[in-house]
Amino acid sequence: MSMIIAEGLSKQFSRESRPAVDGVSFAVEPGELVVLLGPSGCGKTTLLKMLNRLYEPTSGTLMIDGVDAHSLPVIQLRRRIGYAIQQTGLFPHLRVEHNIAVVPRLLGWERPRIEARIDELLDLVGLPCDFRRRYPHQLSGGQQQRVGLARALAANPAILLMDEPFGALDAITRARLQDELLRIQRKLHTTILFVTHDIEEALRLADRIMVMNQGRMVQFDTPLAILTQPSDRFVEQLTGARDVLRHLSLLTVAAALGRERPTAAPVCEVADLPSLRPQDDLRFALTQLLGSGEASLPVIDADREVGRLTLADLRAMLPRTFAGLEEPTPTSGV
Ligand SMILES: Nc1ncnc2c1ncn2[C@@H]1O[C@H](COP(=O)(O)OP(=O)(O)O)[C@@H](O)[C@H]1O
Ligand SMILES: [Mg+2]
Repeated sequence: MSMIIAEGLSKQFSRESRPAVDGVSFAVEPGELVVLLGPSGCGKTTLLKMLNRLYEPTSGTLMIDGVDAHSLPVIQLRRRIGYAIQQTGLFPHLRVEHNIAVVPRLLGWERPRIEARIDELLDLVGLPCDFRRRYPHQLSGGQQQRVGLARALAANPAILLMDEPFGALDAITRARLQDELLRIQRKLHTTILFVTHDIEEALRLADRIMVMNQGRMVQFDTPLAILTQPSDRFVEQLTGARDVLRHLSLLTVAAALGRERPTAAPVCEVADLPSLRPQDDLRFALTQLLGSGEASLPVIDADREVGRLTLADLRAMLPRTFAGLEEPTPTSGV
């Protein structure tokens, strides 16, 4: 059964000429990480806020884990839904430990259980235990986001809503937190709806991407499908669907080699020749290939050569939409 089912969900703010969210329908599976992607003002935040009823929909229905969200008391609904935002919303006058404990306290957990949970969460989000006693202003932006994430996860929510949580962070901290989020997601199997306007972030995180424009959902599909089969010009421009390198970064060497390869041969030592691994992405493979000046590079898996990758293999992975592509620069020896 789907975790979240929205049908015809709309939000019309009074005094606004058109709906902020306009008849959106979708289903999210348990444990999926869905990224809501779209330009500023397209309705991402409004949609997210309808899911935990910070906003009541003007029309449409919403089922959370098989229950009509409207039929539940708001408190009961939000107990199951964590919420993390860019400004973190941490209480400045509360220490880290008390910020994290807000929801468990509300729920009346016993003190020892709360204490244990705080330690567990700090460990989960990668903060040292002695950060418990700090106040938010004594933390960096990235550390504050980690506390925000810990707080959102405190009561073991089945669903986590995240609204541009890493938007204010520098690129390195941001990439690190994206990795952490994926690790936590794999560990906890939380269903996550993650809002961003950053296509790279969406491609990195998403199982599926929901593209929005002017309150409407224009496409809901896997990152690869969004790039290779954009539903219209808007999606194509938003995602840079024609960007060959971006496309290659989503495919692996293993996929390019296919299955009908000769059986593995033992690797003979070739000094200084770069090699590839099956799990490497094709953007990396292209860089290695062009950089080496070789016509092909060996693919090594568990110390055995399982095939050789050529430029032709890479080119064969590009869809016909790239037909007008220039020939790659010839390399020496080809
Ligand atoms: N509380 C509100 N009252 C009136 N209009 C709002 C409110 N919140 C958002 N809007 C309007 O709804 C539209 C979508 O906003 P929002 O959901 O915040 O977009 P996004 O998160 O994609 O940037 C915008 O035109 C915005 O001005
Ligand atoms: Mg927003």
